[in-house]
Amino acid sequence: MTTLLHIDASVRAAKNDNPDHDSISKNIARRFIHTFREQQDIGEYIYRDVGVNPPSFITQEWIGAVFTPEHKKSAQQKHILLESDQFIAEVSKADIIVISSPMYNYGMPAQLKAWFDQVIRINKTFDFDLARGDFPLQPLLGGKTLIVITSTGEFGFEQGGIREHMSHLVPHLRSLSKYLGVTTIHEIASEYQEFADARHQQSLSNAYSQATELAQQLSNMAAE
Ligand SMILES: Cc1cc2nc3c(=O)[nH]c(=O)nc-3n(C[C@H](O)[C@H](O)[C@H](O)COP(=O)(O)O)c2cc1C
Repeated sequence: MTTLLHIDASVRAAKNDNPDHDSISKNIARRFIHTFREQQDIGEYIYRDVGVNPPSFITQEWIGAVFTPEHKKSAQQKHILLESDQFIAEVSKADIIVISSPMYNYGMPAQLKAWFDQVIRINKTFDFDLARGDFPLQPLLGGKTLIVITSTGEFGFEQGGIREHMSHLVPHLRSLSKYLGVTTIHEIASEYQEFADARHQQSLSNAYSQATELAQQLSNMAAE
């Protein structure tokens, strides 16, 4: 049975009184989840809307608690880490992780970055050993599949695209995914939202089709 963790990051709701305000990334993610669940029973489905319910920012006390050995942590330090513990437990048990995100200021929303800061934690999701030379960090989790679903107002963020040099959303997610234990990444992007023209309609339609096809493909693989 598959455990699926779904993280949405847009501050916009999926459905609004005015449909022009609906989050594109959340709706494409919904298509993926809906199609996947049509094909197979998910063992456990965990959902977090970090755009609407932002994780706490980490603090100096948080870092202090993280670096205090387990047996020496005070009750207060344990309390500070509860949110991080919960997020890490969810990532640890997930086979498939879906992250949907808008591009804000050429990168991820601060709310999603706050979630990663809570999750990527020494001796929980990675360990650190200088004996490894120039690459001392090593992930502790593995074998997960990540589906990254993004929406952008502009376009051309792909390799060779006219805004590749401003592309700090998907490349950042790729770098961080290693510490979630991700070994396979699928990327679905809807672009041109701010142009509101035929190119946007085409890009959106392609993204929905990709979400449907990928969900069918992954659910078939999971059922094998
Ligand atoms: C605060 C803010 C910053 C944005 N910055 C960018 C940007 O840097 N580049 C871009 O292409 N689009 C940018 N956009 C447009 C969004 O990426 C676009 O509206 C996207 O569809 C939002 O995702 P959502 O529809 O899932 O809410 C920005 C939108 C907002 C609200």
